[in-house]
Amino acid sequence: MKATLRVDDISAGYGRVLAVKNLSLSAAAGEVVSILGRNGAGKTTTLLSVSGLVKPRSGRVSVDGTSLRLGRPHAASKAGLIQVPEDRALFTGLTVRENLAAAGARRKADLTMVTDLFPELEPLIGRRAGLLSGGEQQMLALARAITLRPKVLLVDEMSLGLAPVVCQRLSSVIRGLADESGVAVLLVEQHLSLALEVADRGIVLHKGSVAMEGTRAELTAKRHEIESSYMGGAGTVEDPAA
Ligand SMILES: Nc1ncnc2c1ncn2[C@@H]1O[C@H](COP(=O)(O)OP(=O)(O)OP(=O)(O)O)[C@@H](O)[C@H]1O
Ligand SMILES: [Mg+2]
Repeated sequence: MKATLRVDDISAGYGRVLAVKNLSLSAAAGEVVSILGRNGAGKTTTLLSVSGLVKPRSGRVSVDGTSLRLGRPHAASKAGLIQVPEDRALFTGLTVRENLAAAGARRKADLTMVTDLFPELEPLIGRRAGLLSGGEQQMLALARAITLRPKVLLVDEMSLGLAPVVCQRLSSVIRGLADESGVAVLLVEQHLSLALEVADRGIVLHKGSVAMEGTRAELTAKRHEIESSYMGGAGTVEDPAA
């Protein structure tokens, strides 16, 4: 399968901290790849390296075979790499509509796309983002990224602090985007069972390097080992299959 996103041998860090070491991964159109690992494993740094917000010290990031200049977030987003940040980064004082407009979604078609994907946002369109529930805020953050028409969507800790039913809802939208629009998705997730449900493949990071990778089936077969060795127990919370 031809990769939409290819990351080759990147190393990235902060000052003397090397947070990601010689990491390679790829994602094809329509593929959801989850990035697993415990706190501090390098998951966010990996996404930030891809979206250009962190400049890797070495390595290569390419989209559809074209290399990007590292550490250039504007160039990365122009190439179709769109990140949903870990903290959602909404303008809490602006309305849902204004948040979407601030991201460039001004046409009616953009708003229609959002309300088709998230009918629950339609009645909230005039409400200030700061007054939305956590789940509604995450939907808005995802909707805002989607209106930018990503080739590759980078999602960090989507399920953090959200009820299981909301997580299911969000992950079904992600799956739908991949299946129906051919978006490639890198999904950072602490919740192992959710990640295994939505992803086609996954990589497990440990101290900045890839400790394990495989298809959903391969990782599902090794889920106990992943949980005990690489997730610090985070994947066991509310796990119905455990
Ligand atoms: N801005 C920063 N300055 C210095 N060190 C940082 C910075 N951001 C992250 N680090 C360090 O880099 C390493 C990897 O952090 P990263 O945020 O990529 O991990 P993560 O897997 O996303 O963790 P979490 O699950 O807690 O979000 C950690 O040791 C962290 O302390
Ligand atoms: Mg993180």
